[in-house]
Amino acid sequence: ELVSSTQMLEDARKYKYGVAAINFHSLEMLQPIVGAAEECRAPIILQTTEGTVRHLGLEYIVALVRVAAAKSKIPMALHLDHCRDFNVIVRAVRAGYTSVMIDASLDSFEDNVRKTKEVVRMARAVNVNVEAEIGKVGGVEDELAVDEKDAFLADPGECEEFVRRTGVSTLAPAVGTAHGMYKGLPGIDYPRIREIASRVNIPLVLHGGSGIPDEQLKLCVASGMAKINVATEIRNTFTDAVRQFFTEQPQQKDPRYYMAYAREAVQNLVKKKINICGGPEAR
Ligand code: 13P
Ligand code: ZN
Ligand code: NA
Repeated sequence: ELVSSTQMLEDARKYKYGVAAINFHSLEMLQPIVGAAEECRAPIILQTTEGTVRHLGLEYIVALVRVAAAKSKIPMALHLDHCRDFNVIVRAVRAGYTSVMIDASLDSFEDNVRKTKEVVRMARAVNVNVEAEIGKVGGVEDELAVDEKDAFLADPGECEEFVRRTGVSTLAPAVGTAHGMYKGLPGIDYPRIREIASRVNIPLVLHGGSGIPDEQLKLCVASGMAKINVATEIRNTFTDAVRQFFTEQPQQKDPRYYMAYAREAVQNLVKKKINICGGPEAR
């Protein structure tokens, strides 16, 4: 069932588990993500960046996800990740995305409020979830790169004001994670997560989920994160599996063999992430 992410994230917030939000770039990445959610009987958010929209096309993405959702009883949402362009957001909503992120975190607070409000106004009429970001998450996510020194953490007071003024449905506060893998351990500010979670009455989103050790990721959920974004580890696992396949069978020419192998690797990883999030079954 293809639904807005609002209800599943409200449930996650209420019962203190996380919903895995996984980026995909192809059919063979989408299928194992959905397969993992079904095995775990957990709701799932399928997400693409604007780069993937250019790679596959909105119509193909929406069609693929609609087929997956129609075949399943699991609630699924299709989310546009880190979009800075209002027009692309409108096109995604028109095409059938049920959730969108307006990422104006690189702008001033006032501009972030203004741009987010604009998207909320447009999306609310059609029951589409809107996510926005406060503070700056470091690292690189597709075309969006934030230098470590420019990354900064979300201020809880600003988060409260932002939610009140924009009416946004989910909030991604920067809390010390970064996009991509980490060189050392991520310096996650758990008290800040708890403080923000206590001051805003909407679900919180953790960006930069790849590379966070299991126990720390559990702590993020326990501290109040309701949506857990994972991208880099998924594509690394997919690609490493393909590479591994060819070291063993360099002569294989049939894509179905290496795609099936990579799909299985992704499915196992996503199952692991869902279990760390403590899905509705595990609570
Ligand atoms: P990672 O690439 O670190 O998993 O971050 C994912 C993310 O935040 C997508 O928006
Ligand atoms: Zn992100
Ligand atoms: Na990361």
